[in-house]
Amino acid sequence: METSTENARLNWRENGSGIAVVLLHGFPFSSAMWEPQLSSVPDGFRFIAPDLRGFGSSSAAPGGEDYTMIAFARDVASLLDHLKIERVVLCGLSMGGYVALAFWRAFPARVTGFVFSDTRATADTKEGRASRYDLAEKVRADGSAAVRDAMLPKLLSPATERERPHLVEQVRSMIEIAPEESLRRTLIGMAERPDSEPLLRMITAPTLVLVGADDAITPPGDAQLIARGIRGSRIETIADAGHLPNLEQPAEFNSRFYHFLDHSIRPLAAAHPRA
Ligand code: MLT
Repeated sequence: METSTENARLNWRENGSGIAVVLLHGFPFSSAMWEPQLSSVPDGFRFIAPDLRGFGSSSAAPGGEDYTMIAFARDVASLLDHLKIERVVLCGLSMGGYVALAFWRAFPARVTGFVFSDTRATADTKEGRASRYDLAEKVRADGSAAVRDAMLPKLLSPATERERPHLVEQVRSMIEIAPEESLRRTLIGMAERPDSEPLLRMITAPTLVLVGADDAITPPGDAQLIARGIRGSRIETIADAGHLPNLEQPAEFNSRFYHFLDHSIRPLAAAHPRA
């Protein structure tokens, strides 16, 4: 499905009906990475997975603002306006988590719950920022191969590499089809994102933090920092998964995710029907 806002043309996939849950993809993927969740939505929930501008089938208006986390978050808000949905649970994986935090910063009253998967709340370190700019330059020369070569060796768990060659290939092609301009501009957008750690203690919405035990990009320590920051949150580690546990161990990921929706979000929505 597709809608146009002032700044972007947005495509999204969705399935189910009921309490709205927005699935925010990581870099440099698209809504396609949520296939194992979109194909098994629990009863009473509506999963909505946008392609962030520049990824999948979404694009930014020519000359529009940069691919910052707040620009992505505003696009999500426009999509929700278009769908006439006021409040949502946000589930963000990696860069999707950065977007979820940017969304909360701008629209705190619209968030009824969070799932943070394999992400971090802190800004990039000086070195991390410099290597993003470096990679953006390499993309100019080598296209998406530069991102593939930088990310793929760290992305998946040893178990996935060993046992699921098909998935490794699928992930590789998802990276390779990302447009060069989106890669460059989003790398800069991520490098410039603000530190969200101070926000964590202000979050009161029910929160689940998930992390692949073998995540080498946003390791379990980053997830623990988020969980320590958000009062009452719960953290769970998924064995034999790296940075993409929703694809690497979908049954484990879904069982924890759906248990959270069932036990922490459903009762809240029943008590406050407009929540
Ligand atoms: C992602 O998966 O979204 C990226 O690894 C995030 C990042 O590079 O910080």
